[in-house]
Amino acid sequence: MIQTLKWNIPAIAGFIAAFAALSSSFPASVSASISAKSWGKADGKAVSLYTLTNSKGLVAKITNFGGTVTSLLVPDKSGKLVDVVLGYDALKEYKANQGGTYFGALIGRYGNRIAKGHLVVDGKAYQLFINNKPNTLHGGKVGFNERVWTATPEQTPDGPSLTLTYLSPDGEENFPGNLTVKVVYTLLNTNGLKIDYTATTDKDTNINLTNHSYFNLDGAGTSTILDHKLTINADKYTPVDSTSIPLGKLAGVAGTPFDFRTAHTIGSRINETNEQLGFGKGYDHNWVLNSPVSGDVKKAVTVVGPKTGIVMEVLTDQPGVQFYSGNFLKGDIIGKKGLAYDHRAGLALETQHFPDSPNEPSYPTTLLKPGVTFHSTTIYHFPTP
Ligand code: BGC
Repeated sequence: MIQTLKWNIPAIAGFIAAFAALSSSFPASVSASISAKSWGKADGKAVSLYTLTNSKGLVAKITNFGGTVTSLLVPDKSGKLVDVVLGYDALKEYKANQGGTYFGALIGRYGNRIAKGHLVVDGKAYQLFINNKPNTLHGGKVGFNERVWTATPEQTPDGPSLTLTYLSPDGEENFPGNLTVKVVYTLLNTNGLKIDYTATTDKDTNINLTNHSYFNLDGAGTSTILDHKLTINADKYTPVDSTSIPLGKLAGVAGTPFDFRTAHTIGSRINETNEQLGFGKGYDHNWVLNSPVSGDVKKAVTVVGPKTGIVMEVLTDQPGVQFYSGNFLKGDIIGKKGLAYDHRAGLALETQHFPDSPNEPSYPTTLLKPGVTFHSTTIYHFPTP
């Protein structure tokens, strides 16, 4: 059942937007809209798939299962809409999280790894679930990517938005504190997918919230990302041990394959003999963004898809970004439209605090205290080609 949720939008506009998405052509201008359809059940709760269309005809599909972005249609250089994120056609595939890929999902409570699942808050030790031996990854056994969120669709002057809320109870995955999380996705009429995260707690706790979309700007399932051009505004990164836990120190990128301060294709140095590339099986590291941590949203990353000419800029107020080059994809996952996702078929750019920050006092803190509201913003922006 498809239900249009804002009745003040002329029905005809919805049809135009739906037609645009179906025909994969890029209309000059449409009215922004948001619609929902039932998409099954998870954990006994109803799951919906929401379609957000902005005034330029860009389309984002997002489900309240895991707050997952399932599809993102943006225009290429000839105006044809291209789906630039990896994902599945059906809810059951997201539930399976095959290969631990976390396609498109919201990640929490703690994005990336906590060494040996060892968390100490206010002197008390909490043992987290080890789901990525010997460490905890992306929140533990059942992360936010597998939770059913409460969804509220809305039209805003900036574009259609979907507000997702989730109360993570005290002790969930052994983290302390009742954590109330709100994530607002807005498909900006200026052609960006904006993600606003807020969180509050009733006990001291650690959080690191992000989104785990895998991008392929030449179209999901069509090629690898090795010929994508990448720029990261970072002089330093956090080198890791053989289990991908940061060593604590920061290392300069100069003279290494980690130097993306000027645009490089991802494939140009990925196979160099380098201990860090070996540990990550390619790029799977946290870059320390040059932008000051001041609450300002700044451009951190630029990616260009060579065939489509699609440019994506990642703007964030977070101190780090995990650039993961899809090293663990190996062609056995069949995604949307029956297309297989080969080795390095997508890249993730997870804006975040640094991995394992709770165990590394020199990193920006991830401790959230009662009475304080955590807020952060990331925008995946697509300048018109
Ligand atoms: C991690 C990778 C992991 C991927 C999928 C990334 O954030 O750094 O090591 O394979 O997520 O789970």
